[in-house]
Parts: sequence; structure tokens; C-alpha cells
Amino acid sequence: MSLPEYVEVVTRQHTRLLHPKLVVLVVSIGKDGRANVMPAAWVTPVSVNPPLVAVAISPKRYTYKLIKESGEFTLNPVEATMLGLVEETGSTSGSEIDKFKAYGIESLTPLRVKVPCIRNSLACIECRVAAEYPCGDHSLFVGEVLAARVRRDAWKNSLYDLSKVRPLLHLGGEEYTSACKF
Ligand SMILES: Cc1cc2nc3c(=O)[nH]c(=O)nc-3n(C[C@H](O)[C@H](O)[C@H](O)COP(=O)(O)O)c2cc1C
Repeated sequence: MSLPEYVEVVTRQHTRLLHPKLVVLVVSIGKDGRANVMPAAWVTPVSVNPPLVAVAISPKRYTYKLIKESGEFTLNPVEATMLGLVEETGSTSGSEIDKFKAYGIESLTPLRVKVPCIRNSLACIECRVAAEYPCGDHSLFVGEVLAARVRRDAWKNSLYDLSKVRPLLHLGGEEYTSACKF
């Protein structure tokens, strides 16, 4: 049996070597109370107790400005069926359009924060900013999880039920995939 060969890639492509990653819609609100949404793939749990999650957001995003303003955000993982919405909200800025109106996004009333959740997403994690760490061309927001909900039909034995739902995973660029259970 021959051993696999390796090719060196440019260091900035380390990101691609860590994908595919779950696509999460990040919702934020401004001082005026208007909500905005953007997809993010660089999202990770960082602590169970206390419950903390981190998301890397570029200061170029309108979402960055809104999270700084309100100190809150919600994380809404989505199914493959929502790819169209991910492409729309990931190629436009809330500084120019009201994405909730433009794309007919239905919100779900949050339990513990002011920022809405997205109806039909797989789950909603409500966060209050606990810390921010500027990191190169992104900034890492660590959020304290104040509430978390999952769609009943998508959940079995405290796991996503992959026989019922297909979480959307970002491979890189404009390529997506999904997960299957072994
Ligand atoms: C699948 C996908 C994943 C993305 N992941 C991130 C991310 O983790 N962090 C980030 O800053 N931008 C990410 N983006 C880019 C933003 O979603 C995009 O720039 C968006 O238009 C910003 O919207 P806003 O200006 O309304 O905040 C991603 C885009 C896509 C399509």
C-alpha cells in the first residue's frame, strides 16, 4: 500500500483545511432596534461551564458594529434547505438593506436577549458578549450563552437527528456540503 503524499498550501489557506464547518446565521440589532443577519462559519463552543461560544467577525461587517452597539447576538445554525438565504445574506450588507424585509426572514421571539432568533433555523443560541479579542483581520467575540433552543423535529437523544435534518456545512468559497451519520 502506498503512503499518501502531501502538497504544501499557502499558509492563508489553513482556514480551508479546517472546513467544512456548520453555517450559522448571526443576528444582531442596532440602537434603533432594527435586526440584521449574516452567515458565519467561524463559530465554536469554547466552554461548557460557564457556557461560552466564540464567533470570529471581521470589523468590516455591519454585524460587527451592531454587536459592539448592543452587546448581544443570536446564533442560528441552518439546514441545507436554507442555502439560498445564506447566499443572499452573505453577499449583502445590513448597512445598505434591511435583510429581514428584503428576504422575508421570519423572526422568532428570543427568550433572554433583545436580539431575535430566526424561525425555521435548526436552533437558536442567545448570547451576551463576555469578551472581545481582536485577531488579525477578524475579531473574536466570546458570548455567554443565556438561552438555547432546538427544533423538536431536529433533535434526538441530545444530538441533531441526521435522519430528519441536513445541517448546512461550508466547505469554502461558494461550495457547501452536509453531514451524514456513520
Ligand atoms: C458561508 C459563509 C460563511 C461566512 N463566515 C463568516 C465568518 O465566520 N466571519 C465573518 O466575518 N464573515 C463571514 N462571512 C461573510 C459575511 O457573512 C458577509 O460579509 C456578510 O455580507 C456580512 O453582512 P453584514 O455587513 O450585514 O454584517 C461568511 C459568508 C458566508 C457566505
